Amino acid sequence: MAAHRRQVPEVRRGRIVMGLRRRCGRTLPPPSGRPGRGRSLAPKHPPRYLHFCCPSLTCPSFPCLPCNKHVKVKRDRGSMSNKAPASQEFLDTNQYSRKSILRYERIFGHTWVSTGGEATSKDLLIKMGLRPGMRVLDVGCGTGGSAFYMARHYGVHVHGVDLSTNMIDIAKDRLNREEKYLQSMIKFEVGDITKVQYDNASYDIIYSRDTILHIPNKEDLYRTLQAWLKPGGKLFVTDYCRGDQEHSQEFLDYVKRRGYDLRTVKAYGKVLEEAGFKDVQAVDMTPTFISVLQNELKYFEPTRDAFIQDYSEKDYKEIVDGWRQKLVRCSAGDQAWGMFLATR
Ligand SMILES: C[S@@+](CC[C@H](N)C(=O)[O-])C[C@H]1O[C@@H](n2cnc3c(N)ncnc32)[C@H](O)[C@@H]1O
Repeated sequence: MAAHRRQVPEVRRGRIVMGLRRRCGRTLPPPSGRPGRGRSLAPKHPPRYLHFCCPSLTCPSFPCLPCNKHVKVKRDRGSMSNKAPASQEFLDTNQYSRKSILRYERIFGHTWVSTGGEATSKDLLIKMGLRPGMRVLDVGCGTGGSAFYMARHYGVHVHGVDLSTNMIDIAKDRLNREEKYLQSMIKFEVGDITKVQYDNASYDIIYSRDTILHIPNKEDLYRTLQAWLKPGGKLFVTDYCRGDQEHSQEFLDYVKRRGYDLRTVKAYGKVLEEAGFKDVQAVDMTPTFISVLQNELKYFEPTRDAFIQDYSEKDYKEIVDGWRQKLVRCSAGDQAWGMFLATR
């Protein structure tokens, strides 16, 4: 057992630091002096650690003592990060190609690319205290559903920013077809929210729907968003999150493929507090997410024939399977959906 407590390098946030050697699977011998109590451990590394085998032995990793496998351990601090933010090219050619966006809108609803489309947003927007004339920043505005809804129903001015040129092209096309008064209240812009610069204390509300999952450095982003809000201004965000447990390989692969950075709802709330927000509310909305997904499927499935005429059987299957997988991931506790409210 003494060997277990030797100091060995451990990879933490990209730096090598000295830490205790961690156990891996396999049965450990009984601790000396305590006969007969061998500890049978499931073949996995300790909870709250992600582990990867290192095939080359060149990366900063170390052999696990009991099984002698070479492993690299990384402390899980409530985040699952892919480190680099999704690039414009990655978004425009993968998840948000023009075809994918229009296909998503067939299940989310026209001008919506997020959970529950207009119905969900209508319910959530009631919480924001919007008043005519307010200035709203919509971070990752997509094809503009929220901007159109807020400007039309609450008389606010909306500045929508999105990294995907496909999203903004579609949003602008739609805006051009709207009445003149609406056109004067909404502005859409292509921009990476981690790079754009806006004036401090210039927005009454900063709003974002299912977007910040694409951004790993949430800490810096939320500090910036806090500064852009007027004193007393409000932040309102919904975002994909993850459950507080060890994750299935399927879920880890999904997050990696998509390039998401997911936090637990609790850890996410802490990020907001540490960014300087007050009155932070971090609400686990996974049950609502599940019922919205079920509802979306219920209304989408009967449109199969019309959908296939415009797209294909394969596209239909991808959507339906994608929604079913989200349901499985949520029920298994891997995936979660959070709502965050805070004040500057
Ligand atoms: C799931 S969609 C949600 C769109 C919209 N909020 C809605 O409710 O329909 C996520 C959006 O985030 C945008 N996005 C991702 N990374 C971004 C970044 N760094 N800056 C601005 N927008 C980003 C994507 O292009 C995409 O439009």
